[in-house]
Amino acid sequence: MTSVTIRRPDDLHLHLRDGEPMRSILPFTAARFARALVMPNLRPPVTTTEQALAYRRRILDALPSGMDFEPLMAIYLTDRTEPAEVERAKASRHIVGFKLYPAGATTHSDAGVTDIRRVDAVLSRMEEQDLVLEVHGEVTDPEVDVFDREARFIDGVLAPLARRFPRLRIVFEHITTRAAVEFVLGSRAGIAATVTPQHLLMNRNALFAGGIRPHHYCLPVLKSQADREALLNAVASGDSRFFLGTDSAPHARAAKETACGCAGIFSAHGAIELYAEAFESAGALARLEAFASGHGADFYRLPRNQGRLTLVKAAWEVPRAYPFGAEQIVPLRAGEHIAWRLAEEQ
Ligand code: NCD
Ligand code: ZN
Repeated sequence: MTSVTIRRPDDLHLHLRDGEPMRSILPFTAARFARALVMPNLRPPVTTTEQALAYRRRILDALPSGMDFEPLMAIYLTDRTEPAEVERAKASRHIVGFKLYPAGATTHSDAGVTDIRRVDAVLSRMEEQDLVLEVHGEVTDPEVDVFDREARFIDGVLAPLARRFPRLRIVFEHITTRAAVEFVLGSRAGIAATVTPQHLLMNRNALFAGGIRPHHYCLPVLKSQADREALLNAVASGDSRFFLGTDSAPHARAAKETACGCAGIFSAHGAIELYAEAFESAGALARLEAFASGHGADFYRLPRNQGRLTLVKAAWEVPRAYPFGAEQIVPLRAGEHIAWRLAEEQ
């Protein structure tokens, strides 16, 4: 049987939520990834070092005994973030960055930044302290087409930001377009991007396949086939500026299957397996390890993980739903197959 063994990977963009729902889904990530960068868009958001450390403690407390997993934390930037928060975050040693959500861009982003210039003092302190800025790269202007929001963000916000803070290290999160790939490839040192499994495996037709498909709706929204191919080529090239961040974003079934459903695709149950499918389809399985376990750790200046993880080419049927606290969650590929599985013995 075909198998691949890689260094244990890191998920550098993950939503875990909190409380009982978190307890239900955390083992999926901990079974695959040694570390994950946990997004701070709780309600209310995680805006201080103290809150991030308390959230980290709740994650560790929710971890089943015997599981080895390290949460890396990010703080949610708001118009009111104090520059002194940067030193506090740096001193904590568990916080690796600040997350920029343009106000209104996505799930729980109403507390986000209304104008990037309002956080200039914080960004300049981050540059000094060498903390990473994680960016949700979409403009929120309702007149800008939803499929153009990422490209418009590059020209209007990200490129000028990267020039104004030339030493600030930036991760352009969950990139979805050829324009984003080209921006990263053409940019100065210190700029990288995460890529999700859904944007490598699906184009926007998946939103409407046979009817409207709320479980394929996430933000940034799925893009065209040409964009998907640009992402696949970027990760398959082995370029170290692209690394793994699933953006697994769980929402209860009732919050997805409704007249105004939430954005977010849950992929933690099969994340590394789905990436293996994508890399195999591009003839680049040999590059999976660096993307999943090398480039991201290096960018964040973390030691690479010591353990190993083995994937076997053996299809399995994904359950139609998993428990999510008192509710249910519908995973990516529910009722369908994933071509790779984790080996029994890790
Ligand atoms: C995320 C969520 O649900 O928290 N949703 C999503 O579609 N990706 C928010 C985000 O990362 O934008
Ligand atoms: Zn996200």
